[in-house]
Amino acid sequence: MAGEKKLYIKTYGCQMNVYDSERMAEALGGSGYAEVSSPEEADMILLNTCHIREKAAEKVYSELGRYKDLKIAKPDLKIGVAGCVAQAEGEEIMRRQPMVDLVVGPQSYHRLPELERRAGGGVKALDTEFPEEDKFEKLTARPKAKRAPAAFLTVQEGCDKFCAFCVVPYTRGAEVSRPVDRIFREAEDLVERGVREITLLGQNVNAYHGEGSDGTWGLARLIRRLAEIDGLKRIRFTTSHPNDMDDDLIAAHGDCEKLMPYLHLPVQSGSDRILKAMNRKHTAAEYIRLIERMREVRPDIALSGDFITGFPGETDADFEDTMALVREVKYASAFSFKYSPRPGTPAAEKGDKMVDPAVATERLYRLQELITAQQREFQNAMVGREVSVLIERAGRMPGQMVGKSEHLHAVYVTDTVAVGDMVRVAITESATNSLGGRVIR
Ligand code: 5AD
Ligand code: SF4
Repeated sequence: MAGEKKLYIKTYGCQMNVYDSERMAEALGGSGYAEVSSPEEADMILLNTCHIREKAAEKVYSELGRYKDLKIAKPDLKIGVAGCVAQAEGEEIMRRQPMVDLVVGPQSYHRLPELERRAGGGVKALDTEFPEEDKFEKLTARPKAKRAPAAFLTVQEGCDKFCAFCVVPYTRGAEVSRPVDRIFREAEDLVERGVREITLLGQNVNAYHGEGSDGTWGLARLIRRLAEIDGLKRIRFTTSHPNDMDDDLIAAHGDCEKLMPYLHLPVQSGSDRILKAMNRKHTAAEYIRLIERMREVRPDIALSGDFITGFPGETDADFEDTMALVREVKYASAFSFKYSPRPGTPAAEKGDKMVDPAVATERLYRLQELITAQQREFQNAMVGREVSVLIERAGRMPGQMVGKSEHLHAVYVTDTVAVGDMVRVAITESATNSLGGRVIR
């Protein structure tokens, strides 16, 4: 019976982990678990972890430390670790944290119900294999449960790019694309359950090459097919690699109305020397040219990116190239990180000269200051304009409702609207991280 036992899931890292956590909750729903919002009331705690930077990975151990007392008070409590830390450090987690009953890597989530049955009472269960079968096909959803209006849908997983700094090719494995018909069925099911906006997910989503009715399909064709679903209003995708932005995908931003004008396109650095050392296989000029082409087909597109400061060997001049690239592109938002050596990656193993951490931090702050200013400028420019908003939830203030614009801005309104409504909003104000406006009837 569903709802007898209580499950608490804590999710770290990327949106793919959010998607995976939803699937794991659904799978464990079949084992009688219902989700709760605090670890104190749980019969099972599951951490879905991230290994992308050292800080992210460390959080797992400190979080586990906090559960020690809970486990002592309730010895039947099952504690599980999933995600990329589980994949990379499964055995070590079991050794360092004896209270962990279960470790499951991202490619084995369909085996979670069985692992859950096996684990506990001193018995440990660990699965960090890369099995052949399609895990998503086996992670069955609870029938027809209503969903929030915006949902994620994983279409592709893993990465073959091997950027020198990145653990993803090791923790998530080689690139695998799901077949078109399965994605289509999942999308139709989501729409039946109330979803209006789908974000297609993949570590390298624009490298998508799934089996279609007549051979292999690319991402643009998949998007155009999904756009035929009536109740689906919006499509997004993330994360992309510049080298996989093919002509069809660029064109889709101009002619597919349901594809939103927002593109997350990481470049990492503006220095050709560093890009080469990072094994990115493109230059700064090629990236800029790509951005220009995107703007030719969709002039109002919101651009986002990822940056790393302090990659081994990065000089002041290299960093200035990054600043110059950011100034030229003008981002709507961007994420920047200080380089963190990851075990097993070429950059960490090569032993190139590390940038002084204080210098890397100083560069990070300067870059973030520039990005924040650009973000504010892009957002402020929305004031006085009309945007379309998909209402997602109630806001913090009474009577307030909040949703997302085409450009992924959070928009607050105080008009009477319901979750799932698509409304036109006249933007009247721009706050720190959101816009406010009036619904146009
Ligand atoms: N150190 C710092 N940042 C990293 N990223 C990936 N690996 C590392 C690392 N070792 C950043 C990249 C990537 C984003 C998801 O995380 O910018 O695009
Ligand atoms: Fe990591 Fe590069 Fe693959 Fe992105 S493209 S997941 S940064 S290896």
